Amino acid sequence: MSIAHPAAVRKGPRRSVRRTAHSLVLDSKCARETRALGRWLGCRLEGNETLALTGPLGSGKTCLVQGLASGLGVREPVNSPSFVLMKRYQGRTILTHWDWYRLNDQADLDSCGFGDPQVESGIVVIEWAERFLDAIERPFLWIQMEITGRRSRRLLWRTVGRSARLYKLLAQMNAWWKTIRQLGPAAPSDCPALERQP
Ligand SMILES: Nc1ncnc2c1ncn2[C@@H]1O[C@H](COP(=O)(O)OP(=O)(O)OP(=O)(O)O)[C@@H](O)[C@H]1O
Ligand SMILES: [Mg+2]
Repeated sequence: MSIAHPAAVRKGPRRSVRRTAHSLVLDSKCARETRALGRWLGCRLEGNETLALTGPLGSGKTCLVQGLASGLGVREPVNSPSFVLMKRYQGRTILTHWDWYRLNDQADLDSCGFGDPQVESGIVVIEWAERFLDAIERPFLWIQMEITGRRSRRLLWRTVGRSARLYKLLAQMNAWWKTIRQLGPAAPSDCPALERQP
């Protein structure tokens, strides 16, 4: 794991250095780890954030959303809404889960209800966001998922648009993942700390 473009913001002389991150690369060794990353985030989101997920079939987008939903306290099972395009879940806030795999052109996007305040609320997460990345209102978190092995995935997290809160969240996630990795050779796959959230 490494921070790709870290920035240290010094707030006046002798004050503590606050670390922020615009982008961050995390390697996941198994589905459980990816879900744990999602859950970590789900425990910390305030309720009005948008997450754009990109990456090939089977790269783990839904797996990450399942963790996110669990961190938000959603009890029902979460699956890719490929056919219905969108599903909504109630946790401590509403989670709106889009899957744009079947959207082909702007007319499809216009007719699906995306961006309609009556349809959208709470945390919005979009699978196959690469279809219409420019249509997503900034700031948002963009998570690019890459298949690096049978059970391994690389997740590139970046903030699109300016958001001090999202920068800070990425820096905190980086710090948390570091502590998980330092727990020993068995960690994090067999690590109880993965389940201890937040
Ligand atoms: N490190 C990992 N992270 C996430 N998933 C993993 C990992 N290793 C293996 N997997 C497996 O890869 C599959 C990922 O499926 P998932 O439905 O989350 O992908 P997806 O990106 O949402 O695909 P689709 O584009 O079809 O919706 C699952 O079967 C999961 O168990
Ligand atoms: Mg999916």
